Amino acid sequence: MGKNFSIAIVSLLLLLASTNAGQVFDVKSYGAKPNGDITQALTQAWKAACAVAGSKVVISTGAYELGSVTLLGPCKGAIEFNLQGTLQSPSDVESFKDKDGWVVFEKIDSLTVSGGGVFDGKGQTAWQKNNCAKESNCNKLPMNIRFNFITNSIVQDITSKDSKFFHINLLECRNLQFQHVTITAPADSPNTDGIHIGRSSQINITNANIGTGDDCISIGDGNHDITINQVTCGPGHGISVGSLGKYENEQPVSGIRVIGSTFINTDNGVRIKTWPASPVGTASDMHFENITMKNVANPILIDQNYCPNKQCSNESPSKVKISNVSFKDIRGTSSTQEAVKFTCSKSVPCQQVVVADIDLTYKEGGSTTSTCVNVQPTASGKQNPPACT
Ligand SMILES: *[C@@H]1O[C@H](CO)[C@@H](O)[C@H](O)[C@H]1NC(C)=O
Ligand SMILES: *[C@@H]1O[C@H](CO)[C@@H](O)[C@H](O)[C@H]1NC(C)=O
Ligand SMILES: *[C@@H]1O[C@H](CO)[C@@H](O)[C@H](O)[C@H]1NC(C)=O
Repeated sequence: MGKNFSIAIVSLLLLLASTNAGQVFDVKSYGAKPNGDITQALTQAWKAACAVAGSKVVISTGAYELGSVTLLGPCKGAIEFNLQGTLQSPSDVESFKDKDGWVVFEKIDSLTVSGGGVFDGKGQTAWQKNNCAKESNCNKLPMNIRFNFITNSIVQDITSKDSKFFHINLLECRNLQFQHVTITAPADSPNTDGIHIGRSSQINITNANIGTGDDCISIGDGNHDITINQVTCGPGHGISVGSLGKYENEQPVSGIRVIGSTFINTDNGVRIKTWPASPVGTASDMHFENITMKNVANPILIDQNYCPNKQCSNESPSKVKISNVSFKDIRGTSSTQEAVKFTCSKSVPCQQVVVADIDLTYKEGGSTTSTCVNVQPTASGKQNPPACT
């Protein structure tokens, strides 16, 4: 092969590499300026990047205003959303008419969200308009980040702050990893759940730090194979499976693992909650292990009479069947005496519930109690409070 020919080939390969894989689409090239509104620039940069395999959308450091956007796939190949700066949502709710999300990622395979940046939902004024505690059909407020139909993807090193409603919502995602995600909102901000997982599978959340006004992580119906590892929660309402059984046609839940996590000053630790008078459903194979509680009001809880704000008229039992649940190696302090509480359904009692190596004290060193209704747990190892078997 001639020397010039090889040089030509190398140059061609370099050109391909620079124009294709790894191509950067900086929103600045689409007119974005710090402190300006980048809704259009981002929409255009995304469109261009999505048409190229292995591309990267970059939002560099600085603060930017952003209206509601849907970053839609399918894309040509892997795509990265690299946020180094801070995105600021409009604070008024009116600009979100008929929109349930602020930044929506949809129908994308091989997405990476990264960069150390912040999604600032500016929720303070919206929280005052939240009437969900009074109305079951309450005002619809937008969530900070929605992942709809996302597969084989990773979300790492980002912060979601002061969302108007849930911070992060997953709908029908598969094989999605969250690493080093930070979520913050005040303890009294309504319905600012950290991460809500819906109808998804193979979801891992590792090394997250979540402090909000509602559930740290909630796992709705239709989820399988969910692993939550090394997550720190607080303030907030803890990690929960559910609520389940509020709606018709809910899908089964199975394969849930919460391990190596810490709860600080939360209302609940690990919880499974189902509504009374529910349709038939199942939740099984749920395991909670190696967990530290610090000043948690209800560290271990199964509540099949879940009915916040007394929205239920009918007190007939839940028909969501809970089985194969274990709570192992759970230690620390409870801010109430009743540290372990299982209120299972009279119509479908909980089955195969295991408690092992539990050491929870009331504040520093006080004695705690456990309550069991419609369940006979199997106990082993240390039992503080004494197990109700
Ligand atoms: C997700 O967690 C499961 C269970 O711990 C593990 O087997 C799997 O390898 C994890 N996936 C990734 C990509 O980390
Ligand atoms: C228990 O969780 C902690 C993190 O809270 C972790 O450092 C430790 O390795 C875990 N222990 C086991 C036995 O997995
Ligand atoms: C209970 O959960 C364990 C651990 O995930 C699983 O291996 C087992 O198959 C489950 N048993 C039943 C009866 O579902």
